[in-house]
Parts: sequence; C-alpha cells; structure tokens
Amino acid sequence: MTHRLSPHALLPDERHDERERQAFVGALRGHLAGQVMPGNYAIYRGRVEPEFERQHGRKPLHHNEVRAVMEQQPYYQFWSALQRCSQQRMWDAVIDSVEREWPRLNGASKRLRKRGSLMLDPTLSVPRYHTAVDIHLQPGGYHTDFAVDDVAAGAIYDLGLNIYSHGMMGPRNEYLGDLLLRYFLSVHPRFKPLRILDMGCAIGNSTLPWARRFKKARVDAIDVAAPQLRYGHARAESLGVPVHFSQQNAEHTTFEDQSFDLVISHIMLHETSRSALKHIFAECHRLLKPGGLMLHLEIPRGKNVIENFLYNWESWNNNETFGQYMTHIDLADIARQAGFASDKVSCADHAVPRAKEQQLYSEETLWKIIEARK
Ligand SMILES: C[S@@+](CC[C@H](N)C(=O)[O-])C[C@H]1O[C@@H](n2cnc3c(N)ncnc32)[C@H](O)[C@@H]1O
Repeated sequence: MTHRLSPHALLPDERHDERERQAFVGALRGHLAGQVMPGNYAIYRGRVEPEFERQHGRKPLHHNEVRAVMEQQPYYQFWSALQRCSQQRMWDAVIDSVEREWPRLNGASKRLRKRGSLMLDPTLSVPRYHTAVDIHLQPGGYHTDFAVDDVAAGAIYDLGLNIYSHGMMGPRNEYLGDLLLRYFLSVHPRFKPLRILDMGCAIGNSTLPWARRFKKARVDAIDVAAPQLRYGHARAESLGVPVHFSQQNAEHTTFEDQSFDLVISHIMLHETSRSALKHIFAECHRLLKPGGLMLHLEIPRGKNVIENFLYNWESWNNNETFGQYMTHIDLADIARQAGFASDKVSCADHAVPRAKEQQLYSEETLWKIIEARK
C-alpha cells in the first residue's frame, strides 16, 4: 500500500505509471521489513550465536563481531542484497516525476510569496562526509545542483522519504518534528523559545511543526545542501509557514554567540563524522543563550548486539558510514566536553559501556574503507 503525501506547490505531479512504480517499491520495502528482515534474528539466535559460542567460549560482544559472522549467512546476504536493490529502485521510481516536472518546480520555487527567507552561500565548502559518497545512494546526495536554482534533490528527498519510511513520517513528512516537539513540551511545558535553530533541516519537513507551534519565535533552519534549502523554503512558503533558511555548516555557523533559546536537530548527527559531532556540540554551546536548550533526535541504537548490527545495516550498505557511531558513542560525554554542565545533560537511550565505544572503528579507518570502495 502506498501512502500519498498531501499536495503542496512544490510536490511533483505523478503520472499513473510513476505512481504504480512507487507503489511497487513501497510494497517491496514493506514486505522486506515486515516479512524477510525478522528472519535474520531467527538465523542469529538459532544458528550463528550458538556456533560463535562453541568456537569462542562466549557470545559476541560487539556489532562488528556479529557482522563478521552474519555476512557469511546466505539468508542475510539475500535480504541485504534485496534491501539495497530496493533502495536503488526507490530513487529510480521518484526521479522520473521530478525530471518531468523539473522546469515547473525550479520556476515555482522563485515565485512564491516570501514571509520567511532564503540565504545561500555558494562559497560554502560542503563537508567531505557528504561529498565522498552519495549518501543513502541518492544520486548526487543531498547537495548536488544539476541546474541553476535547482530544487531537484529536495523534491527527490521529499518523495523518497515517504517511501523509505513506509509513510510513517506522515502526509507531510513531519512526524519527527512532531515527535521531538511533543517530547519538548512534555518535559519543558513553560519554556517559550523566541529564537529557534534547526540544524540539518533539509527540506524543513521537521522544522515546520516548531514554527507553527511557536508563532512568536523567529525560526532559523540551516543545511549544507542548497537544493534542499531552495525546495524547503518554497515548500514552507507554499504551506504558509515563515522559516528563515540559510546554507551553513552546523559545525561552525555565522550566527553570533548566544543567539538562540533552543537548538534542535532531527536525524542529522549520524550523517556527520565522529570529529564533526564534537564541533557541532561545541557550536550549539556557543549559540545558546544562558538557560537555552539543545535537543537532538537520533536513530535507534538497539538493545543488544544483533539489534546493534541490524540497525547498522545502513552504515555499511547505504553510505551512512559514520552512522555506526550512534550505536556505541557516548553523546552525553561529548556534550559535557563541549561545555554543557554534567547535571544538565541527558541521553534518553541507554548508557554506552566504555568498552563497546573503544571497539568502534576509528574515523581514520572508516575514511580508508570509503576511499578503498571508490
Ligand atoms: C537525514 S537528513 C534529515 C533532514 C530533516 N531534518 C528531517 O528530519 O527529515 C540530514 C540532513 O542534515 C544535513 N547535514 C548533514 N551534515 C550537516 C552539517 N554539518 N551542517 C548542516 N547540515 C548538515 C544534510 O545535508 C541533510 O539534509
């Protein structure tokens, strides 16, 4: 079953055949996630873990140990190959509609009424963790312009995210923003931010719930990817929500010290690198007013080694190489190192055992792996 996005001025029209191809990929991915992927747990528990225990006298301690043995399993290989194939087919299925609608979309992005703003920086150097690979296998990644004033990568992300998530991001791909906002309101019901910054906003899909909720606030949204920002700006205008988009690297922005009451991000951190994480947290600390808050929503870590391994599939097979740090890295510790007071930092997920963090590949090793694959 396909989940259609609610129309807005920037959403490409789809023809019958394009819709059907998207429906097919969506159904394939739903089948893989619901029916095929869970078989990996059975293979692991029934065969792989007992065999590992026989050989080593203990169970695997880390997702990289699980990876070494699971990648030998034909069932895992079968699921993994289909999963990767479905990711490629997903982009193929949405790119046709965007290409056909391309001139209209690029033009429309310039005509919409401006309540918010858009500031691009052609001199910005896009970080290597984006230029080295096509992240998520999206051709050209988030950031590539294929024409002047291009919005294609944003339109492709909007349509692709809906299929990727099986429609679980909602009809406007806004549910992550809604989720983090609801968490924020439940924990800080009296906090009324007047300046909000969303880092790694892409098309602003998770930004808009914040701007709608805090109408008196000025909401800034930054990303390194120009086509996402052009699309996001026009999309927000067409939905009547004022947001100020600018092309900036979250590691070091141009905003002045203590500019914001609240800095947020939604699934951005895992797409940066290990060293970038430190820079981003330090930048959040610099940007916050006294008493301000930083809030990051991230991908799940998994409760045990087989979940850690399967949740890290994207890291090895979908060009999200540094995503594996999210499994075992101590984010609270990085926040403390960035200057946040120890008693003010919390991570909603379980604590990370230091021994597991030490078994992660170094950033240098991961760069070598990326280069060797080219
Ligand atoms: C998975 S997307 C998330 C988009 C959006 N926040 C959402 O909830 O769907 C991650 C975004 O972070 C952006 N990003 C990654 N590293 C960044 C950085 N250092 N500075 C600014 N944006 C960055 C990427 O360009 C991409 O648009």
